[in-house]
Amino acid sequence: MQSSVIAPGRAASGRVILVGAGPGAPDLLTVRAVRALAMAAVVVHDGLIDPAVLDFAPGARRIDVSKRRDRHTLPQDAINALLVVEARAGHTVIRLKGGDPFIFGRGGEEVDACIAAGVAVEVVPGVSAALGAAAGALMPLTHREHASSVSFVAGTCQNLVEQDWAGLAGKGRTLVIYMGVTNAVAIADKLIADGLSPDCPCAVLERGTLPGARVVRTLLADLGGAVVAHRVISPALLVIGDVTRGVAAAAVSEGLICAC
Ligand SMILES: C[S@@+](CC[C@H](N)C(=O)[O-])C[C@H]1O[C@@H](n2cnc3c(N)ncnc32)[C@H](O)[C@@H]1O
Repeated sequence: MQSSVIAPGRAASGRVILVGAGPGAPDLLTVRAVRALAMAAVVVHDGLIDPAVLDFAPGARRIDVSKRRDRHTLPQDAINALLVVEARAGHTVIRLKGGDPFIFGRGGEEVDACIAAGVAVEVVPGVSAALGAAAGALMPLTHREHASSVSFVAGTCQNLVEQDWAGLAGKGRTLVIYMGVTNAVAIADKLIADGLSPDCPCAVLERGTLPGARVVRTLLADLGGAVVAHRVISPALLVIGDVTRGVAAAAVSEGLICAC
């Protein structure tokens, strides 16, 4: 079935299309994302979007709602209202978000706001950071011999103490933590307190799919120290589990295989 995203011509009334921009490399955009961008009158975008991605919407007005040094992030309610106002003005509004809009992207809140306002809304999925970074590191998140499940968890540490991550990591499981770099020490301590072995292998995937991508492999007990020692900065993911010590993954972190 053909999606309305790829229908040609000007929309009779405005609408909002949430588009996943992928993990960084512009050539990881989907074909559907490129087609949606080509139809945009307005692009409302986050930070960390490669300018080459915005170039797919050459005629569009660009609105940057990301956090920058000179100003705070636009509150989510204000972003929701902006999308509705622009669509009601008759525009095709592309809400461009890193990775996938529904993985830690607040896409659900924006969809709800559009529906509540009676504005037509669609979602174009994107390659989430975990998938892009793991592919670049040749690190399968599931593997017949090492992991039959994978969990995506937000590492922002609000209420970390109350969270129970014990069931998410361990033998046969892969845990991928988004937004966890600055709290890596607390996260490792909590996982160990919840019963995970301090010797559990882990990796930090920094700048996955982007120039300068790095893979740092370590053990859970040393995770916080490795983040500091290697001066890991965002964007990065923490991956916990046996898949991080596969032969191919080890070769990438030793610099034997290009992770690009
Ligand atoms: C607010 S979340 C957005 C996730 C996004 N919606 C997705 O599906 O990838 C931002 C976090 O994603 C992770 N991230 C985004 N891009 C990344 C990249 N290129 N390499 C590693 N991690 C990345 C980092 O953990 C970052 O703090």
